[in-house]
Amino acid sequence: MEIKRVLSGIQPTGRLHLGNLIGAIENWVKLQAEFDCYFFIADLHALTSSYEDVKNLKEDINNAAIDLLSSGLDPQKCVIFKQSDLPEHAELHFLFSMITPLSWLERVPTYKSKIEELTGQDLGTYGFLGYPVLQAADILMYKAALVPVGQDQLPHIELTREIARRFNSYYKEIFPLPKDLLTRFPSLPGLDGRKMSKSYNNTIAISDAPEVIEKKVSTMITDPARVKKSDKGHPEVCSVYEFYKVFARERSALVAEECRAARRGCVTCKKELAEILIGYLAPIHKKRKEFEKNPEQIEGILAAGTGQAKKIAAQTLKEAKQAMGLI
Ligand code: TRP
Ligand code: SF4
Repeated sequence: MEIKRVLSGIQPTGRLHLGNLIGAIENWVKLQAEFDCYFFIADLHALTSSYEDVKNLKEDINNAAIDLLSSGLDPQKCVIFKQSDLPEHAELHFLFSMITPLSWLERVPTYKSKIEELTGQDLGTYGFLGYPVLQAADILMYKAALVPVGQDQLPHIELTREIARRFNSYYKEIFPLPKDLLTRFPSLPGLDGRKMSKSYNNTIAISDAPEVIEKKVSTMITDPARVKKSDKGHPEVCSVYEFYKVFARERSALVAEECRAARRGCVTCKKELAEILIGYLAPIHKKRKEFEKNPEQIEGILAAGTGQAKKIAAQTLKEAKQAMGLI
């Protein structure tokens, strides 16, 4: 049986966080054992919204690479690279931009919602509108069969299929239509109870030191109706409890029971959670330290990944240019 190709990317906007870890990276680590996997750092995508402030971009990219490798992505089992190291991505994006109607892009739900959400940034740019066209280029470049993503990305995968269909019908059947591999994971709440996201500044980073984790967890929103320890709690509305369900499933039933009976105080509950998270991240932090000491190792892994990705990318781009009459 043919092994299917899987591709996915992650934006290095700030430090990668626990939401990224459980929602994407841990899933990738499982997939690398079964499929022909390509995973990359979507640095060009990061530029579509954070183009004004790039002073930390290089460091964020490096940290993203370290986080991915420390969390278990294995260059022996998957291809890991950085998007901008392969100019083919930008070039295929450009070719696709010729055939993508504006109306398709203006209709993408993430387009308007991000503009409304990120009020501090001017996203009325050409590059930001083209975000999903670049994503289509990422996916179709490798003729990926499956694309592991969260719910919010489904419209981008649909648009990718539409671009592929249009290209195939205008020129030549080059691009197979990719399918999403929906990551069924409820999104992790952030410190403020909203979805954990860099744009809300409510994250716990994978690389946060133990003291930082303790401090952040102590500020997490709990059951707002619970003022005193003697008030009975409602774990189902508490973000701390959500974390227990994800990171300490075995303990979560007991936590809920004690909370409901007012036998557990929030301060203790948070201290215990911080310990759990610190323990969960300990092996990742250990590997992190090794990688931090060896920047050449990271460079070597990304260079090897670029080389492997290039073999396919260069071939696909050639086919696309031939089909479009350029060569
Ligand atoms: N847009 C994706 C996100 O924000 C990141 C991404 C870029 C991606 N290119 C991709 C995901 C290609 C899957 C396939 O999560
Ligand atoms: Fe949340 Fe724990 Fe407090 Fe209950 S005891 S409200 S689960 S922090």
